[in-house]
Amino acid sequence: MRHKRELVFICTGSDCKKAGAKSIKKQLKEDLKSGPLKGHCKLIQTKCMDFCKSAPVVIVGDHFCKKTDSEKVLSILSKGTQK
Ligand code: FES
Repeated sequence: MRHKRELVFICTGSDCKKAGAKSIKKQLKEDLKSGPLKGHCKLIQTKCMDFCKSAPVVIVGDHFCKKTDSEKVLSILSKGTQK
C-alpha cells in the first residue's frame, strides 16, 4: 500500500547546505504550499546521508536525486501524483 502523501527527504548536512540545499528547501516549501501538489507531499529534513559528493541530495519516494535542484524534484513529484 502506498502512502497518501509522497515523502521528500532533503539533506541539510553541511556539504548539501553549501551546495544549495537551503534554497531548494525554501523553493520546495513555497511550491508545495499551493498548486496541484498541495497536501500531497511532506518535506522532511535529514542530517547527512553520506552521499556528500553528490550534494545536494533529495530523496523523493524511491527516486534518489543527486546534484539536484527544486525544478527536478518538482517534476518527479508531479509525475508521481499523476498515477
Ligand atoms: S551533507 Fe548531504 S549527503 Fe552529506
